[in-house]
Amino acid sequence: MKSENINHAFLDGVIRGDHADVYYHFGVSSDDPILEPLREVRAVVMAGSGGRIKEFAERWSQLHGGSEVVAFPKEDRFVTRYTAGVLFASHGMGMPSASIALQELMRMVFFLKRGDEAALDDVFWARVGTSGGVGLPGGNVVVSTEGLMADLKPYRLLQGGDGEYWFDGTFPASTQDAIIAANADSDIPVVPGKTIAGNEFFLEQYRLDGAICMETPESKRAWLEWIHSHGVRNIEMEGAMLAGYLNHWGFPSFATICATLLNRLEGDQVTATPEQLHQYSENSGVVLFRYLQARLDGEHGEGREGGAR
Ligand code: URA
Repeated sequence: MKSENINHAFLDGVIRGDHADVYYHFGVSSDDPILEPLREVRAVVMAGSGGRIKEFAERWSQLHGGSEVVAFPKEDRFVTRYTAGVLFASHGMGMPSASIALQELMRMVFFLKRGDEAALDDVFWARVGTSGGVGLPGGNVVVSTEGLMADLKPYRLLQGGDGEYWFDGTFPASTQDAIIAANADSDIPVVPGKTIAGNEFFLEQYRLDGAICMETPESKRAWLEWIHSHGVRNIEMEGAMLAGYLNHWGFPSFATICATLLNRLEGDQVTATPEQLHQYSENSGVVLFRYLQARLDGEHGEGREGGAR
């Protein structure tokens, strides 16, 4: 971990018991007994939708002998479940929403691991979601190599009045390799590639079908071809921030795994049938679960990482 980037001024007092930490958007605080079983957490899995989180937790529980599923009572912002070493949490849509979820989850994991940096190193983080493919049709699964914004620059925020803070959007290569290896014998096409996180589904993804449109067919195609030529394979709305924040603390193992819903070089509207959409979304879940089983349960042996575990 990069200890110097952790907010010790606030978080160490939580570990010492000087004050509690209120994870407001999750409706729990560090002195809430509901968190006690979560001390064993080994992976945090995030997804946009709460329904997906409930399905994931149920499936992970079934794979672990019907392990008890802990549900946080508050669900009006984010839906959270914990079972068998994995904390599943929804993050809503877009970087403002997902950054709130991620910051509170990082604080929570710091508390759960009592600030022990070796224990923090061992926690795997993932976002599983959907995306627009760039040169890839629906049903592919992209494992992000780097998260960038629509201008191919990293995630950044206004900071210190007149400056910007630029985050490092790279995803750990050993984790990407291990995810791909854990899925080597599967029929699902798993592709590594750069991922753009748009601040908007329409404007910052250069769509022509928004209520507001600032592009022409020519400028849209030029942007898509430009990002494709730089190795971008999909577009979603969270990956650049996620990589930036997790790199900031120095977590060694995290990933964004997204199914493509359409090839943006061929259109803007998501016209897949409900059955196709279900299958596409299922694909990303299968890819994640195979890796989780390799990492946490020692299954699909090829998928184990040489690095921190
Ligand atoms: N999610 C996105 O952000 N963009 C798409 O095109 C599809 C899913």
